Amino acid sequence: MRPAEVVRRATDYLERHGVESPRATAEQLMIHVLGTDRAGLFSRTQGLDAREARMYGRAICQRCTGTPLQHLTGRQAFRRIEVEVRPGVFVPRPETEVLVEHALGAIQVSDGPLVADVGTGTGAIALAIKDERPDARVFATDRSAEAVDLALANARRLRIDITVLEGDLLSPLPDELRGWFDLVVSNPPYVTPEEYEGLPPEVKADPTLALLGGPEVYERLAVEALRWLRDGGVLAVEVGSAFGGTIGEVMRGSFMDVRVAPDLAGRDRVVIARRP
Ligand SMILES: C[S@@+](CC[C@H](N)C(=O)[O-])C[C@H]1O[C@@H](n2cnc3c(N)ncnc32)[C@H](O)[C@@H]1O
Repeated sequence: MRPAEVVRRATDYLERHGVESPRATAEQLMIHVLGTDRAGLFSRTQGLDAREARMYGRAICQRCTGTPLQHLTGRQAFRRIEVEVRPGVFVPRPETEVLVEHALGAIQVSDGPLVADVGTGTGAIALAIKDERPDARVFATDRSAEAVDLALANARRLRIDITVLEGDLLSPLPDELRGWFDLVVSNPPYVTPEEYEGLPPEVKADPTLALLGGPEVYERLAVEALRWLRDGGVLAVEVGSAFGGTIGEVMRGSFMDVRVAPDLAGRDRVVIARRP
């Protein structure tokens, strides 16, 4: 059976099991198993060999039982780059691309901005910013050693020059840069314990350190960002759709020009604020 026909049947199977985007999932898993691209998949007339058929069948079953697609393919596209993902480190989401868009737009410095990405995970935000603003000097931090290892591996593989440091929020940054940052950007953990219980299995596959949080993380981040940003420097954060307004209020206490911006689905998901 041609791979295209196997994909068609797998799509029906995924749909019956309630998997989101069944067609795209079936295709991406086949592309991964065959080590080809979409054109290669649909032009191949030769059937799957035993190893490919076994790999594909196993991947389809794992997806049906809640394993995230990205853990099966090991990849996630993010703006102009593609990062490696691994179990144990948060999978970057498309809505975070909107945060990067706002963050890049808010940098007012025309030459060599200094940027910190707090809670970098795979390094997606830091790497995308450096990719799109090559003149920026970009630092990334994370409390998770696994995340730091993966962000460094992604930076090496993509040949994008960022500095990745392990530790709490902004504390690992070099002391001499205090007061010089143009942008602090972060997608911190923002799922409340009550929300966590109701999350689907593929979201719960992300580490709890990357998910569980709430307004107090933003309060701490805002206090620390004030110490690291220069006058007029920007703090840009992603927020849970339930408390975009609350975080906006937190920022209004000590920042100016506070804006709450929507994500692709029109929900309040990004807060941007300027240090006075
Ligand atoms: C929601 S994930 C975001 C990851 C990545 N920035 C992205 O958008 O794909 C939050 C990240 O913050 C890290 N983290 C949680 N608490 C932290 C803290 N206190 N200091 C630094 N990093 C933290 C987690 O390990 C995780 O990688």
